[in-house]
Amino acid sequence: MVLSNLGLLDGEYKIISEDGMLFLPTITEVSLNQIQLYITDVSLTTGKRYFEDTVKGPRTLTEALEGKLTSSELALLPRAYDLVGDIAVLEIPEEIAQYSILIGETFHDIHRNFKTVLAKSGAVSGTTRTREYRLLSGENRTKTIHTEYGCRLAVDIEKAYFSPRLLEEHNRIAQLVETGETVVDMFCGVGPFAIHIARQKQAYVIAIDINPLAIELLRESLSLNKLVGSILPVVANAHNYVKNNKLEVDRVIMNHPSGAYEFVPDACSILKSGGTLHYYDFIGGDTPESTLTEKIRELIEQTGRSVKQVSTIRRVRDSAPYEYQMVADIIIGQ
Ligand SMILES: C[S@@+](CC[C@H](N)C(=O)[O-])C[C@H]1O[C@@H](n2cnc3c(N)ncnc32)[C@H](O)[C@@H]1O
Repeated sequence: MVLSNLGLLDGEYKIISEDGMLFLPTITEVSLNQIQLYITDVSLTTGKRYFEDTVKGPRTLTEALEGKLTSSELALLPRAYDLVGDIAVLEIPEEIAQYSILIGETFHDIHRNFKTVLAKSGAVSGTTRTREYRLLSGENRTKTIHTEYGCRLAVDIEKAYFSPRLLEEHNRIAQLVETGETVVDMFCGVGPFAIHIARQKQAYVIAIDINPLAIELLRESLSLNKLVGSILPVVANAHNYVKNNKLEVDRVIMNHPSGAYEFVPDACSILKSGGTLHYYDFIGGDTPESTLTEKIRELIEQTGRSVKQVSTIRRVRDSAPYEYQMVADIIIGQ
């Protein structure tokens, strides 16, 4: 149950009960720290072993579509997919788009645990950073409840931005927050940072987004989780909200990599001396770490504040060929 809620249990393999022990197959390597938080009454260990398939028949799209597509078309089939709650999202290359429905239905036959199979249609764009999806198989919907690190998130992937690939980053930031902090998440989307923080820490999070549908989903998530901290969901342009409210905060999260640079003066105007800024950006080139360090240092110093320490610079994920979504954690001085 716990592994399943954490989105870690692999339903395609059978659970084994052997010599008084239960062996649970997981979709990825799991560290004990990850699960010991949630399971305290049994002794746990991790390792590798063989599990029998629950699935009969072909296990991959390539196996299932052999003979229906040419070998060059088979080579273009998606090898991975995004898992958002009970929805699977495929990215089908243009060259084999005419087979989209066949690919989606075949995928669904292999992975019966999903209720819906969608294909990405176009790129993430616009102020709300959303994209369209095409139904390939199953129920016609884009809304679901997604679980990451035990946080239950109401998500509608067509109406508000959400990426299941940022779970480590959401959790990393929540672990840095200390009891009693006030945090502003300037571009919260459906609120994954806010929910991770308020589940783990007695902190106060002001979660702002310009997209009212994103904030509606965040409000729904508030009732899905047991929170120790509190969250104020706000529909607003972050610039106006910061300008119109007297704030002095410990931490600002700026996960809007295509536009955050324009809001650095707003973030710097509300951070306490010694407060932390988490700044996200898309950076390419051979030395993205030093490019980002120089860029954010300049942006902060232009506001009249100083950089006390650049505590972390890290690649969060690949965003395009030779480009990364990067984060800089910066402690701000006077
Ligand atoms: C990359 S998404 C947010 C991701 C979110 N932090 C997460 O981890 O899922 C960027 C968000 O910024 C919001 N946004 C864009 N311009 C904004 C503005 N001026 N003020 C507040 N929110 C804004 C968009 O609606 C979108 O939800």
